[in-house]
Amino acid sequence: MKIVMRGEELQPVAIRVENLSKDFGSLRAVNSVSFEVVSGEVFGLLGPNGAGKTTLIKMLCTLLKPTSGKAEIAGFDIVKNPSEVRKNIGIVFQEPTLDVELTAKENLDFHGRLYGMDGKKRNERIKEVLKLVGLEDRADELVKKFSGGMQRRLEIARGFMHFPKVLFLDEPTLGLDVQTRRKIWEYIDKVRKEEDITIILTTHYIEEAENLCDRVAIIDHGNIIALDTVERLKNRVGEDSIEIVTEGDVSDFIELMKSANLRVVRTEEGLMVSAGEAERLIPQIFSLANKNGIVIKSVSLKKSSLEDVFILLTGRKIREESSSGALHVMRARRMGR
Ligand SMILES: Nc1ncnc2c1ncn2[C@@H]1O[C@H](COP(=O)(O)OP(=O)(O)OP(=O)(O)O)[C@@H](O)[C@H]1O
Ligand SMILES: [Mg+2]
Repeated sequence: MKIVMRGEELQPVAIRVENLSKDFGSLRAVNSVSFEVVSGEVFGLLGPNGAGKTTLIKMLCTLLKPTSGKAEIAGFDIVKNPSEVRKNIGIVFQEPTLDVELTAKENLDFHGRLYGMDGKKRNERIKEVLKLVGLEDRADELVKKFSGGMQRRLEIARGFMHFPKVLFLDEPTLGLDVQTRRKIWEYIDKVRKEEDITIILTTHYIEEAENLCDRVAIIDHGNIIALDTVERLKNRVGEDSIEIVTEGDVSDFIELMKSANLRVVRTEEGLMVSAGEAERLIPQIFSLANKNGIVIKSVSLKKSSLEDVFILLTGRKIREESSSGALHVMRARRMGR
């Protein structure tokens, strides 16, 4: 297995993709994408509806044959060695696939059998994975009685039940409310910390990519248009900013801030401070104002986000295009899919 540098450490490559493409008739859904994911990394594919995320994942999971290009998962070629690839991966699909007429435990047990795990190992592992996603007390409940978020957690547990090297999560929180989504992020984070696993996930939620992923590939119309760490991608559009309006003249305050080594400029209404993670500066700014008898009338924080990066690169928003897809899937779920 080839080794690449990741920071100071040497990490084996878990996924290597080279010029991978997929055509559906005249439509090029994935256009010659290349990237590498190292072991232990959480790698995100962020893009709007129809960007080609699921198509790319399906090729890597050996469920769709590429039109051209190649890819290796855990050292195995997806076209030449599909069965070895399958042994080494876990998948959580975009659409739910649990058997809702079975209990949580039965769903996991069935999965363990498919992967040839013996009875003792299955029982031990079921307890372990249910605990990791906070469902240890619900093992014997029918899945149809679970909330959407609980079902998603169970699907994730099933995804890594058989000790895969690579876990694919296709839109892990699609259609879930914000609170449930955050809970699921916590569980995914626990999985990455407690399991020896590499995670590749697709999403069109900016916050999801920002919160979970070490590196993000932004994908649009089948092309990877940017790929980097979240921090470095955000730096392309500049840092966060804090806009402050004070009572009276702002000149003295600007000078005070400059001598405190803050990067500050005058604006029409007041002043603006630029910094990475600018929210950390707000207490310092208030104490500086208090000490010098300056009255702050308003403060507003603007965080730079991956949405800004997408707009910069495409002139469009990710979310506008995403909402209809989320609704579509939620509707499909309500109709008993
Ligand atoms: N089996 C198929 N036959 C024909 N076209 C397809 C097929 N599957 C996907 N496509 C098309 O390929 C493109 C990429 O679809 P894909 O499902 O990979 O996008 P996605 O990024 O996963 O989108 P979403 O956010 O909606 O899940 C779309 O234009 C889609 O209509
Ligand atoms: Mg998709």
